Amino acid sequence: MTLPSQTAPSTLLSPSSYAVVSATAPVVAQHADEITARFYANMFAAHPELLRVFNQGNQATGEQSKALAGSVVAYAVQLIDPNAPSFAHVMRRIAYKHMSLGIRAEQYIVVGHHLLEAVAQILGEAVTPDVAAAWEEVYWLFAVELIAEEARLYQHASIDPAHPTRPYRVVKTIEETADVISLVLEPADGRPLPEIAPGQYVSVFVDLPDGDRQPRQYTVSSTAVGTRLQITVRRVLGKNGAPNGRVSTYLHDRAKAGDILDVSAPAGDLVLTPSDSPLLLASAGAGITTVLPIVEHIVRTQPRRPVIVAHADRTAQDHALRQTVQRMGHQLDNFTSYTWYEHVDPGDMSSREGHMDLSDIPLPDDLHVFTCGPLAFMHHVRAELMQRGVPAHYIRYEVFGPDLWAAQGDGV
Ligand SMILES: Cc1cc2nc3c(=O)[nH]c(=O)nc-3n(C[C@H](O)[C@H](O)[C@H](O)COP(=O)(O)OP(=O)(O)OC[C@H]3O[C@@H](n4cnc5c(N)ncnc54)[C@H](O)[C@@H]3O)c2cc1C
Ligand code: HEM
Repeated sequence: MTLPSQTAPSTLLSPSSYAVVSATAPVVAQHADEITARFYANMFAAHPELLRVFNQGNQATGEQSKALAGSVVAYAVQLIDPNAPSFAHVMRRIAYKHMSLGIRAEQYIVVGHHLLEAVAQILGEAVTPDVAAAWEEVYWLFAVELIAEEARLYQHASIDPAHPTRPYRVVKTIEETADVISLVLEPADGRPLPEIAPGQYVSVFVDLPDGDRQPRQYTVSSTAVGTRLQITVRRVLGKNGAPNGRVSTYLHDRAKAGDILDVSAPAGDLVLTPSDSPLLLASAGAGITTVLPIVEHIVRTQPRRPVIVAHADRTAQDHALRQTVQRMGHQLDNFTSYTWYEHVDPGDMSSREGHMDLSDIPLPDDLHVFTCGPLAFMHHVRAELMQRGVPAHYIRYEVFGPDLWAAQGDGV
């Protein structure tokens, strides 16, 4: 982390807080994961109702705690360092996630209270009244920006945050592969489908058989039928003794035509910006769900726009939505497709074996890239493309979990 050496430049922070935050940011950063882990424990003890809004899988793996810690530290750094990377993307991502979950302005008081309490508990005597006041200022600057962005999103989507979901009926379930299903959903309240930008997700809230309620995000994998939306869900199996995924297992084993699910408004900013530039859509595994809606959209609106899809999976049999993407893509004037499988079927002459390797595929000038898959996969794709001369700001990504990439300050 680079910290400025002398006087306060123009910043939102008051001059006294600027000095204190500059001096204490390294120690807060060093203990940030510990602070946020304590924060969640304290907050859930005081407000058990929040267990139904927070993803308990992300709590168990510690990922949400790390994402929160990373974002607060990155926010503080950009307040004190004029050369810090832009924070706009992280801010938008968090605001969209909050919006899809119905987070309300007054809940920031609860989070602020427990977060600052955890700072004091973990850092102990180092937290003098001046230090506490300076970090409280950081928290509220961050909170106010998020509250404003979320208010804008709620207003734009005509949503009352107290009622963030609408009932959708499962019209049918489609078995895509042995461990991937699609659910086709239709609004059950008589109102039309909201506007959905290709690449956006919805939060789906599920009442589990043990009485818990849990939300999860699923990309809208298709809006080919204008009155319905489709989500495509990979069954998550627990590895090394960890439990199977709760919501994906529930949807695979229990969801059936006629069921009602509570579904949020579409959210997320991994969306196409208006441009004619060639597109590369690089996905792995469940990341394919972001590819189909983008290809569908290009077919509908810009059939001349060149599109390359590149996908990595275990085998052709695990490659969900493969035929649908191909069928759609072939309606474009200029469509190229590459696949990499860990095991290529004998007789499959067009797929390559092993991990995705973009080093020798022809790339047009002015290429824009969307990538979605595990974090390590996306790091690899980004590094290879940057080596091939694709500017970092043309490479956009979606993380299917708390965004640990952006939180580390390494986002694109
Ligand atoms: C923006 C976004 C878009 C997404 N789009 C899609 C999509 O289109 N399709 C899709 O399939 N998924 C998508 N996801 C992922 C999806 O939201 C869920 O995370 C996924 O379905 C797993 O949820 P689950 O409830 O089944 O698993 P969880 O119960 O949340 O478990 C998740 C992981 O944590 C582990 N775990 C849970 N409890 C413990 C414990 N006590 N100890 C150790 N490990 C534990 C589990 O073994 C599992 O590996 C998306 C996510 C985001 C954020
Ligand atoms: C300044 C205050 C806050 C900050 C900095 C913050 C930060 C974050 C971050 C970084 C994420 C992960 C986003 C991602 O998916 O990448 C997140 C998700 C989330 N936040 Fe906040 N948040 C704040 C306030 C709140 C409040 C007030 C609530 C309401 C109780 C809340 C509830 C949630 C929930 C439920 C999630 C999803 C968690 C998950 O999926 O595991 N947040 N927040």
